[in-house]
Amino acid sequence: MSGNPLDKKSQGWSALFSEPMAALVQRYTASVEFDRRLWRADVAGSLAHARMLAAQQIIDAKDLADIERGLTQIAADIEAGRFEWKLELEDVHLNIEARLTQLVGDAGKRLHTGRSRNDQVATDVRLWLRGEIDALTPLLGSLQGALLGVAEQHVDTVMPGYTHLQVAQPVSFAHHLLAYVEMFARDAERLADVRRRTNRLPLGAAALAGTGYPIDREAVARELGFEALCENSLDAVSDRDFALEFAAFGSILMIHVSRLAEEIVLWMSQNFGFIDLADGYCTGSSIMPQKRNPDVAELARGKSGRVVGHLMGLLTLMKGQPLAYNKDNQEDKEPLFDTVDTLAATLRIMAEMVGGTLDPATGARTGGFRVKADAMERAAMRGYATATDLADYLVRKGLPFRDAHEVVAQAVRLALQRGVDLAELTGEELRAVHPAIGDDAREALTLRHSLAARSSRGGTAPAQVRAQIERHRNRLA
Ligand code: ARG
Repeated sequence: MSGNPLDKKSQGWSALFSEPMAALVQRYTASVEFDRRLWRADVAGSLAHARMLAAQQIIDAKDLADIERGLTQIAADIEAGRFEWKLELEDVHLNIEARLTQLVGDAGKRLHTGRSRNDQVATDVRLWLRGEIDALTPLLGSLQGALLGVAEQHVDTVMPGYTHLQVAQPVSFAHHLLAYVEMFARDAERLADVRRRTNRLPLGAAALAGTGYPIDREAVARELGFEALCENSLDAVSDRDFALEFAAFGSILMIHVSRLAEEIVLWMSQNFGFIDLADGYCTGSSIMPQKRNPDVAELARGKSGRVVGHLMGLLTLMKGQPLAYNKDNQEDKEPLFDTVDTLAATLRIMAEMVGGTLDPATGARTGGFRVKADAMERAAMRGYATATDLADYLVRKGLPFRDAHEVVAQAVRLALQRGVDLAELTGEELRAVHPAIGDDAREALTLRHSLAARSSRGGTAPAQVRAQIERHRNRLA
């Protein structure tokens, strides 16, 4: 960043000011240090605007050629890291425009005809965010794919399902993972929906009231790939609800990620011991040599906080803003940028941590969950997870469910006294609890039988789970 902060002539705007801007004010109000990230969108928006101005004969063909040449060079310079960003030029828009005028003269000064930085910045942020949404979409797909890949291997792997974190009923590990696939699938739907409302063009609203030049907003929208126009000029320059929606999408997604991360942390702990992670995804302790910590999962869980924080920040930023544009809106960028960066990095690493990485040369998969199916099964045996199955068995023998529930509670009490699982009670012991319990009851108490029995739509029975995996595979294909 260069330039003398007190040099009035280098400022991007009016001759109205007779005194230079205070150095502190300049630093406080400038955004170029972060909003230069929008440069591609800014150049694309300016090119589309200039082409429309020429097509409408608001500028001539020579001006357009100069603007195109200048902006092409500027883009190349920024790309190559040769562009000199100046703090006194405040933001990305004024930096690029000033350089354009330096390069091509009067044509550069004509570019801003019928436009304001207010509709320009709103357009840039929407264009930029649309591109980021398109980059995030496949990452969200990869995480779902990674979960599906593990699920496919574990349709018959039984684990305890929990309510209140108490062992409840057996479920398959695949079924458990598919719950997260459902969450991420809804996140993907939300993202697609955010895209639709982001992809509307503010340009042409000018400062706030529209413009008297015979502009063609539809042509600009077509060139930039916007699917609709912002229909009210005041709203176009002032609202940022597309950013709020994106941050809300991001927050919900990160909460889902955080729940999965929390389970990974639990499963990794010695008390569960359900999975192990590849060494590359754990970190050690500087004092306890035996430790392998799931730092990645913990950080993913922790980073949900900053994304939710950005949503709160953006909501608060909008609250109480009168129409139309206010400089408050300049504060929309850093939270958005950090949300995008956090989501991209988190989705990428979560997909790898769950599914591992594929070596493109050998096709071999390394890393990913190492599932300890035996430990899961043992845990499922421990908490009388099949008690409901015994009740269901008695219902099939004609007992009302509430009575069956009572009988099974007695059986569980007996098993607890004896320190055994329900399935380990003898036929006589079971019959002593209730005469309707026959020898076939033992079969009903096995984990596999319990799993297979939950065959209602969306249940954990292997056939249901396989159908769900196939549905998701088709959706993601
Ligand atoms: N840097 C400003 C922003 O991000 C651009 C728009 C400034 N408009 C203005 N009238 N000062 O919002």
